[in-house]
Amino acid sequence: MFLNKVVIVTGAAQGIGREVASRYAEAGAHVILADINEQLGVEVSTNLKNKGYSVHFIPTDVRKEQDVIQLMTTSVERFGTIDILINNAGIFRPISPYDISMDVWDDVINTNLRSVFICSREAAKFMRLNKNGGAIVSMASTRAFMSEPHTESYAATKGGIVALTHALASSFAPDHIRVNCISPGWIETGDYAQLREIDHRQHFSGRVGKPSDIARACFYLTDDQNDFVTGINLTVDGGMTKKMIYEE
Ligand code: NAI
Repeated sequence: MFLNKVVIVTGAAQGIGREVASRYAEAGAHVILADINEQLGVEVSTNLKNKGYSVHFIPTDVRKEQDVIQLMTTSVERFGTIDILINNAGIFRPISPYDISMDVWDDVINTNLRSVFICSREAAKFMRLNKNGGAIVSMASTRAFMSEPHTESYAATKGGIVALTHALASSFAPDHIRVNCISPGWIETGDYAQLREIDHRQHFSGRVGKPSDIARACFYLTDDQNDFVTGINLTVDGGMTKKMIYEE
């Protein structure tokens, strides 16, 4: 399905991004890992290379337009084109709305949302040259739709990604570029074995999510055969946003 496809994953040095990048690499894609964390990025890409996969790490700060332009042009120089972009890089800064500084606010917006626009636009400039266009998937969150206190900046970016997704799906449609997003629920990127029974049980699925759940969702949304699917938000949350919760 993804043999020889050129896939860019942002925020690929750890967590969900690392798993997504690894899965595409295992599937035979050429994978560009982009991350601000150079040390970890090099480590992850070296490990994948040692397993025989076609990967390349490009240090990238997705807040910087010039870095993103460089990421796309270097990817094309190296692998000839771009087929798939996974906009995964993101930060979470829970701070009371009374206390959050505008610098932190702007940083969250620039990292999580503005970056999705810049990366999508710069990748699409190359994807539109492909006969089959391309596919873009961005990580939103169930926090686009429901909240805990002190999460305004994060929620705003994730809601923004859902809206940006259908807007870009419309603009890029003539170029055969599909644009979708995923809203993960609780995806454990730390030690899964340390989770409590109640962590799992509260989900309809009976378990907390894993990065591999998100990798499979990326596969679905970027499979050429699924070209009837564009502009959507795919919730992958073990049912948590469908659960009615009234306190006793
Ligand atoms: P993480 O914090 O483990 O990894 C994020 C990666 O993004 C890191 O490697 C980090 O270095 C990179 N990054 C941060 N700022 C960057 C920048 N300016 N330029 C380039 N790279 C940058 O996060 P996790 O948990 O793997 O989440 C990945 C995505 O999924 C994020 O967008 C997050 O908001 C979203 N998400 C995660 C959920 C979860 O439960 N883990 C739930 C819902 C959404």
